[in-house]
Amino acid sequence: MYSQVIIKDLYKYLDQSVTLKGWVYNKRSSGQINFLEFRDGSGFLQIVAERKNFSMDKWETIDKIGLESSVVVTGEVKKHAKTNDLELHLTDITVIGESTDYPISKKEHGPDFLFENRDLYLRSKTPWAVLRIRDQVFRSITNYFYEEGFIRFDSPVLQPTSCEDTTQLFGVKYYDSMMYLTQSGQLYLEAGIMSFGKAYDFGPVFRAEKSKTRNHLSEFWMMDAEMAFYDQQMNEDVQEAMVKRIIKDVLENCKEELKILERNTEILEKCVTEKFIRIKHYDAKILCRDKLGVENVNIYEDMSTEEEIQLGNYFKLPVFVEDYPFAVKSFYMKRYKDENGVERAINADLIAPEEAREIIGGSQREDNYDLLYSEIVNRGYNLEDYKWYLNIRKYGSVPHSGFGIGLERMVRWLSGVHHIRETIPFPRTTVLSRP
Ligand code: 4AD
Ligand code: MG
Repeated sequence: MYSQVIIKDLYKYLDQSVTLKGWVYNKRSSGQINFLEFRDGSGFLQIVAERKNFSMDKWETIDKIGLESSVVVTGEVKKHAKTNDLELHLTDITVIGESTDYPISKKEHGPDFLFENRDLYLRSKTPWAVLRIRDQVFRSITNYFYEEGFIRFDSPVLQPTSCEDTTQLFGVKYYDSMMYLTQSGQLYLEAGIMSFGKAYDFGPVFRAEKSKTRNHLSEFWMMDAEMAFYDQQMNEDVQEAMVKRIIKDVLENCKEELKILERNTEILEKCVTEKFIRIKHYDAKILCRDKLGVENVNIYEDMSTEEEIQLGNYFKLPVFVEDYPFAVKSFYMKRYKDENGVERAINADLIAPEEAREIIGGSQREDNYDLLYSEIVNRGYNLEDYKWYLNIRKYGSVPHSGFGIGLERMVRWLSGVHHIRETIPFPRTTVLSRP
């Protein structure tokens, strides 16, 4: 079988000669020694080339090599005397594909330039680290659900109706009529759990959100989970266990990535062991107003950006904000009237600390046919489109709950990058993107 030594496994080859394939990431020279920073996809490695070990021709090749040239290198694996990092003492090098005038230099570039060249920028250390954390989060979520007995149940991307805010739909011409790109697979999952009990989906979703924040994408990946016979507290238990599992895996398996990103992991470590906060929307608003110094708090509104940030800073743990005013939430949520007569959803948004803000939205679902029917009418939705969804409440309805986590929001929090567009290979935002 073909086997290739990779940087990640080099510790097994100390003091041995190996051959590696990859790219020249960076270089610097001090006369008789050239230092090449080399990458092979699995990691980064310093290569040391000494003049005395090479012919004139080879030395010239090494001296003149352009950044991002692809190469095959052979050398001995050594431990750096001071840092203890592994390095390769070069004995031979062959250029496979030359690269001259690589447009991304190691000097500072503005973010716009980097994203106009995203296809190349992907090769740099920050995207490498962030997108590997993304891969780990994806795997942690799917492993977790597999182990917990959920079935993967993928919902359609083209949908005739809206799941969330109708103003944020992308329409698509569908033969002679119209469809919309999915905002969330939730409604379909609700049908799915009547067959499978517990199910999740994981795929791209689309929101025509005009908000240009560092937390919004027009295309992002969402994992929706749905559980029959679960109430909202059980729903939050599942979310908490899943988030703890993701963080634990990232801390264990992405050490190199977190180091590259200079991520301080103190709060993340705390999140693995300590219980998350659960607080009612009303109490969260009062806390923000009376103790956290937030101005213009409106107790009947959604949580504002500032409120979410302050809650996260205060608790330094993820916070389930429960029971929002029903008026600011989606039609499918189960509700009740509080002692002041305010209609409240039985729901929670999970607010992450470190200014990461909302990472999960979830709720118990309205399981009563008549109440759901009248809410669909109240909101002016087309009843005909929701007939199948109402059927879930007509034939053996059960209490059920679920939630959706935004993959990129989670990755932004864990990696600590400023803008959410760093967390997806080719971001789609309000501006037309190339590539
Ligand atoms: O809170 P949202 O809108 O909830 C739903 O869509 C439910 N149907 C989910 C469910 O119950 N199955 O979205 C869920 C999550 C948010 O908490 C956030 O993490 C992410 O999706 N999200 C976005 N991420 C990036 N860009 C955007 N424009 C996002 N909008 C929501
Ligand atoms: Mg939400």
